[in-house]
Amino acid sequence: MLKRTFILIGLVLSFCSLPAQELIQITTRNTALVFRVANQSLRQVYYGPRLADTDVLQKQGNNFPAYSTYGMGEQNEVALHAVHADGNTSTLLNFENVKQESPEPGITLTTISLKDPLYPFQVKLFYKAYEESDLIEQWTIYQHTEKKPVTLYQFASAQLSFKSSSYRLTHFAGDWAGECNMSEVELTEGIKVIDSKLGTRATFFAHPMCLLSLNGRMTEDNGEVIGMALAWPANFKLEFEKNNNQELRVLAGMNPYASHYKLKKGDVFQTPSFLYTYSTKGNGQVSRNFHRWARKYGLRHGENSRYTLMNNWEATYFNFNEPKLKSIIEDAAGMGFELFLLDDGWFGQKHPRNNDDAGLGDWVVNKEKLPNGLGWLVKQCTDNDIKFGIWVEPEMVNPQSELFEKHPDWVIQQPEREHILFRRQLVLDLSNPEVQEFVYKSVHDILKDNPQIAFVKWDCNRAVTNPGSTYLPADEQSHIWIEYGRGLLNVFKKVRDSHPDVHFMLCSGGGGRLDYGSLRYFEEYWPSDNTDALQRILIQWGNSQFFPSIAMCCHVSASPNHQTGRTTPLKFRFDVAMQGALGMDLQPSTMNEKEVIFAKEAIKTYESIRNIVFTGDLYRILSPYEGNRTSMMYVLPDKSRAVFYAYQLKSHIGEVSAPMRFKGLIPDKKYNVKELNIYPGSRAATGSANGQSFSGDFLMNQGLPIGLSGDYSSAVIELEQQ
Ligand code: DGJ
Repeated sequence: MLKRTFILIGLVLSFCSLPAQELIQITTRNTALVFRVANQSLRQVYYGPRLADTDVLQKQGNNFPAYSTYGMGEQNEVALHAVHADGNTSTLLNFENVKQESPEPGITLTTISLKDPLYPFQVKLFYKAYEESDLIEQWTIYQHTEKKPVTLYQFASAQLSFKSSSYRLTHFAGDWAGECNMSEVELTEGIKVIDSKLGTRATFFAHPMCLLSLNGRMTEDNGEVIGMALAWPANFKLEFEKNNNQELRVLAGMNPYASHYKLKKGDVFQTPSFLYTYSTKGNGQVSRNFHRWARKYGLRHGENSRYTLMNNWEATYFNFNEPKLKSIIEDAAGMGFELFLLDDGWFGQKHPRNNDDAGLGDWVVNKEKLPNGLGWLVKQCTDNDIKFGIWVEPEMVNPQSELFEKHPDWVIQQPEREHILFRRQLVLDLSNPEVQEFVYKSVHDILKDNPQIAFVKWDCNRAVTNPGSTYLPADEQSHIWIEYGRGLLNVFKKVRDSHPDVHFMLCSGGGGRLDYGSLRYFEEYWPSDNTDALQRILIQWGNSQFFPSIAMCCHVSASPNHQTGRTTPLKFRFDVAMQGALGMDLQPSTMNEKEVIFAKEAIKTYESIRNIVFTGDLYRILSPYEGNRTSMMYVLPDKSRAVFYAYQLKSHIGEVSAPMRFKGLIPDKKYNVKELNIYPGSRAATGSANGQSFSGDFLMNQGLPIGLSGDYSSAVIELEQQ
């Protein structure tokens, strides 16, 4: 078998041209993606659980094109459509060679080179396989030495094909204050597209991730599911084309919509990464694979901790001054928070930011509100032994700003057309390196002048319209969508290289920007401006499919809630916010004494379990989409401790609930049950089980009756192995 199969062993570096019929295997601990070269054409013969014997794939595997091209007999959507310098619209890609190496333990990188026999046009497919998390990261580059530019019309990061009896696609859609809703559809013949054409706020309506279940419906614990996510902060496209032969082609990458790209001789066109994992144990395993990968490779400081914080946005909005902030800082510190985050409204001198109509772009302190500057606020925090964080929205500008007065040409715009405002602001043109430098310096200077700043919330409150650039030449205006994304990632990288230890929160008018291209440079993300705990359960459930809890900012806010008007108990709000990186977004002076006592205790309790939430494996148990009760839990990888959450969404008189079951424990070990966050004067929902020990198999097979009564009741339970 070894003679006929090309596989990577240890750190051996291999580089070869394959004789016909050789297999190229990209493997992780439990999965394999296998290619074969036939008549110089690269074919995908298998993707699924790792096989004991792969020789059979020489003859019995699938025969899908690995990376399809336009103009050579294809009748479906293609991965690459290039028009060559002489006008030829077709490309043929012949296999040239393959290289496999191990850049670090646990990772293998396979590079497959393909070339057009007629043109000096080369394509390289990269597959980075992460052993532990069963995840493959794929990207592609194009390069040529044709005399004139080659125009690219389609440029997928990846193509994957399947043959299955059915295809069910779960995708994620939303809007402001209602992000990340899951819906499942059966794919029938034809094309289903999930995409974004918004540029900056790319995940506002749809998210660049999907769960594809094969051969039947997936559940949390069963079914063949491929989880996929594109690591790109701008326009994206995920395309699913099912043919009449029950085959499915998946293409994923930057959205080619209005984006044809002239690639000059010698330049390299690199696509973003497409991430995917194959699970035979339902979408629960997909999530755990993505979380494990993200904590180690996909997220900034994914294995550290996160600050608990008080954010003043919903407490004050734009209406604050020094005494008001001082008292919030003191209250936050008194309650036990580790950081105070100053939100929008602190800047703008000539055009003070007292509302959303002015000041964006002018990153100097608003002296009317903060006469003693940021240094004074930082000192208030230091004196109270907490850290200081600050809000910025550096990609944007208000027409009422000194920046716009000086550089009207720096905004994205179409010549001779009126600007289209949204939230009374415009988007800076990040295809322009000079503008990239300005955006970088805006953030860098704030951090350089105030080295004690420990946290930055990076906001982005509008999408791109009028997609034109005064920087790009006339015949490259269609590059704006792609160059914006690339420019943004350059800025993120430069800022993070200069400020490696500051924590950054990714925010976009709620969860309008959330992708693994950005998260490499961020510690956290803001899932939604909707802080209503009931709705957050659904938003957090959706986000948890792909993103780990250590990155998810969850804030307790006022009741009635500012977005929905719903009244919920403080305990419920804390119990929901304790699923991620805990914060608070309310005026502490509005809380009564009992609430303050509870909050103080809850923050302490959270500190004692956050390590489980941040590093544990997530098991979703009862879905909020399916009933009145929902539950989920985190279990440390060594299964010594776990934390379980249960919520009652709506109560019905006469409704009898079954015992609630647990997951992920060691069956023959005993676990002590300790209920947390019991509200002063209330009884434990776990009743007599509180403080008792039970075996893992009892907890997982029988479960415990949890007395949740009334709308928005909840319980948090810690399990500790005896
Ligand atoms: C939108 C964010 O999502 C909010 O949290 C807040 O920072 C506002 N922007 C400030 O303008």
